[in-house]
Amino acid sequence: MADYTPDANPIALSILKNFERQKEIAKYEYPKNAQTKIIAVSNQKGGVGKTSSCVNLAASFALNHQKVLVIDLDPQANASTALGVEHSAHVPSSYDLVTGKAGVNVLIQTNPDFSNLDVIPSTINLAGAEIELVTALNRERKLRISLENVKEQHVYDYIFIDCPPSLGVLSLNALTAADFILIPVQSEYYALEGLTLLLQTIDMVKKQLNPKLADPIFLITMYSARTSLSKDVAEEVRNHFGERVIQTMIPRSVRISEAPSYNQTILSYDKSSSGSLAYQEAAFELVKILEKQ
Ligand SMILES: Nc1ncnc2c1ncn2[C@@H]1O[C@H](COP(=O)(O)OP(=O)(O)O)[C@@H](O)[C@H]1O
Ligand SMILES: [Mg+2]
Repeated sequence: MADYTPDANPIALSILKNFERQKEIAKYEYPKNAQTKIIAVSNQKGGVGKTSSCVNLAASFALNHQKVLVIDLDPQANASTALGVEHSAHVPSSYDLVTGKAGVNVLIQTNPDFSNLDVIPSTINLAGAEIELVTALNRERKLRISLENVKEQHVYDYIFIDCPPSLGVLSLNALTAADFILIPVQSEYYALEGLTLLLQTIDMVKKQLNPKLADPIFLITMYSARTSLSKDVAEEVRNHFGERVIQTMIPRSVRISEAPSYNQTILSYDKSSSGSLAYQEAAFELVKILEKQ
């Protein structure tokens, strides 16, 4: 163990701390899942870190030898961009999945950095699905039905669904297909008020569409230790949701926001950065929470 003093250079201290964290992370052993776990990453507010959390947690799972599928269910296709898969209009996509036109096996592409991380991209066609589904029978259950086979056959250990920033029929499909919900909470904003509608929607889904859905799990994102607002929001979320809040907070980090421009997750873009370490730590905590359910 290095011997450092309080007046040491702060950069050196932070490097040392990251080094210690990397040693702990290297010891992670993910449990073997008895069945596929489907996690919807949802919050109807835009810009809270849904997509970043979805792709970076998925990559953390993949790094630890889990077979993972990410379904991009946002017409903006940010997860498809970050995961480096083709998503122009002619590409088979989550639109085909959610409208029941095609099954998982013909829609998947593989992430260039992790061979055990598959992706079903979204394309601009998905924007039309909301309208198309309005008159469909079982319109909220479409995705659940489309995923039944892969789930039964345990093709994947985990399936992540990146939700759009609204509570329309696409998000309802995600919540109905999911076993778990991860709600990213941006720590730079008084977030609790905005969560009421989401929590009410989850309750409704539980009562009417998906009785086995577990209580949501929360992840605090864009945390800056230097601002009192961040600290207040984090404390407020913890007071409200206690054990359901992942202890690790995702720091505000330029590296996290840069990675998608290179079609990469933070794990391949800058693996030893503090943002990458935080996502790996949060992912392992999430696995432990899911294991207990
Ligand atoms: N921890 C972070 N630090 C800095 N920027 C972040 C962080 N998480 C996300 N961002 C950036 O904030 C914006 C919104 O994040 P995103 O994950 O796309 O949110 P959402 O999917 O909820 O709209 C994006 O530009 C993203 O790169
Ligand atoms: Mg998004």
